[in-house]
Amino acid sequence: MIRKLYDTEKIPYPLLLLADETAEAIDRYIHDCEIYLYEKNDETIAVYAVQKITETSIEIKNIAVDTPFQNQGIGKQLLHHAAQTAAQRGFHWLLIGTADQAAGPLSLYKKAGFTEFKRIENFFIDNYPQPIYENDKQLKDMIVLRKYLK
Ligand code: ACO
Repeated sequence: MIRKLYDTEKIPYPLLLLADETAEAIDRYIHDCEIYLYEKNDETIAVYAVQKITETSIEIKNIAVDTPFQNQGIGKQLLHHAAQTAAQRGFHWLLIGTADQAAGPLSLYKKAGFTEFKRIENFFIDNYPQPIYENDKQLKDMIVLRKYLK
């Protein structure tokens, strides 16, 4: 089941930290986000957070599935839920950003109908105190993808 996190509930940092490097980076957007939880047997196993960007666009700022549950289609379900909910709310565009070297997330988003929209140069250098490495490569640019919501 996917449900919204109530304002009185704890922000699920351990899950959010799977998708972002530091709690400080998460704190720069999470308080302006709506957070949705994926629950299975009363346990939260995945999360996504969306932030309104303009009257017509909303962005998934964080999406994460707990490690033992990855590659079982949950990420895909969360993207579908985010797109449906945003469309119902009248948004035209759903955005999502990831590192240009994040082959896994990039291919997931493209399969879900997102196309590359813009590159934010040096995002991972300018916004984090330490260099971030994935598969021995330093993350540098962010790719923002978008999906048109019919
Ligand atoms: N490499 C290649 N393809 C992948 C990968 C990967 N690492 N991960 C998923 N895919 C593909 C799957 O093969 C699948 O394709 P198919 O439908 O043709 O079979 C499709 O994407 C959907 O896969 P899911 O099983 O739904 O993906 P999952 O539930 O694992 O969720 C996610 C994907 C959210 C990236 C998850 O693996 C995760 O939490 N990773 C760690 C955190 C992370 O990197 N989050 C994204 C950061 S960017 C951001 O938050 C805005």
